[in-house]
Amino acid sequence: MKLKKLTSLLLAGTLALGLAGCGSAAPENPEAQNTLKVGVVQYDRHSSLDEICDALTRELETSATALAGLGTKLEVTVKNGQGDAATINDICTLFLADKVDLVVAIATPAAAPAAAALQGSDIPLVFSAVTDPVAAQLVDSMEAPGGSITGTSDYIDTQAIFNLALTQNPQLKKLGILYNLSEPNSVATVEKAVPQLEEKGVEALLTTVSAESEVQMAVHDLISEGAQAIFVPIDNTVANAMSVLADEAIRAGLPVYTAADSLVRDGGLATVGVNYTALGEETAHMVTDILVNGKDPAQMPVRVLEDQIVTVNTTTAKALSIDPDVFDQGNGYFSVE
Ligand code: TRP
Repeated sequence: MKLKKLTSLLLAGTLALGLAGCGSAAPENPEAQNTLKVGVVQYDRHSSLDEICDALTRELETSATALAGLGTKLEVTVKNGQGDAATINDICTLFLADKVDLVVAIATPAAAPAAAALQGSDIPLVFSAVTDPVAAQLVDSMEAPGGSITGTSDYIDTQAIFNLALTQNPQLKKLGILYNLSEPNSVATVEKAVPQLEEKGVEALLTTVSAESEVQMAVHDLISEGAQAIFVPIDNTVANAMSVLADEAIRAGLPVYTAADSLVRDGGLATVGVNYTALGEETAHMVTDILVNGKDPAQMPVRVLEDQIVTVNTTTAKALSIDPDVFDQGNGYFSVE
């Protein structure tokens, strides 16, 4: 790509910069000769996506500082898709008109319309936190994406999450699962989860929603069907209504297990999952690898973070009269209130 020659210089450069909030632009450098433009589109505003976007832009800003010293300006524009595919399409059309050099899409329901909007252009697309990029038809395979699209995945270890649930309640026989059928990230996770639960002798009660306003009703349905606990996959729609779900579940005395730490911070009981700040930073590294170091997305494997950490909400545990220490599997746990 256009800045191959900067590779070793940038890699050798020391990267240091202070904080910057999501959406802030790269620092001005009046002497810059080249400008590299990155357009970031975040699907919606729930806290996990904000965390990813903050980490991503902070890390890109660090690179911007290194590049500014080399006479190149890195310009980052962040837009929020407000949970709407048409808005995301409009944002990407603007990015194309603005001749961005690369687009970053945060979450599956942003990456899918972004990929469609960029089709036919040779602009690389780097996605962040796409749970199953193969199921979402963004890449040919995790190892060899094949086209102009690659990125990071928040792989969900559902077995580990169900083990938490069964440790807390070995008598668990009915687990309610709440998700949006139009999110491939959730569908892929649920398809994997159901047989795993069957093997553990647990029946999965599936309930779907198509908007966050339906979540409260769906929880009531699960309760009346006899769910003893609820599992929420990394579903963006449910994430937007997580505190409502958590309140309803606590009222009914049901533990809620989730696939992301933000959902536990918003009132869920416990999860095992990846660190989304690290995921955002890793996504930024892929961006600079492509833009600055000239790597080809077709041959850059999708990056999956290995480290998974247990997070428990102690306030929720207390409300349910559950001892949070049952979730300590020997390595402790991260507690939130
Ligand atoms: N993995 C989700 C996707 O593929 C995005 C996501 C990241 C998410 N963190 C989350 C969804 C937390 C719900 C809750 O779209």
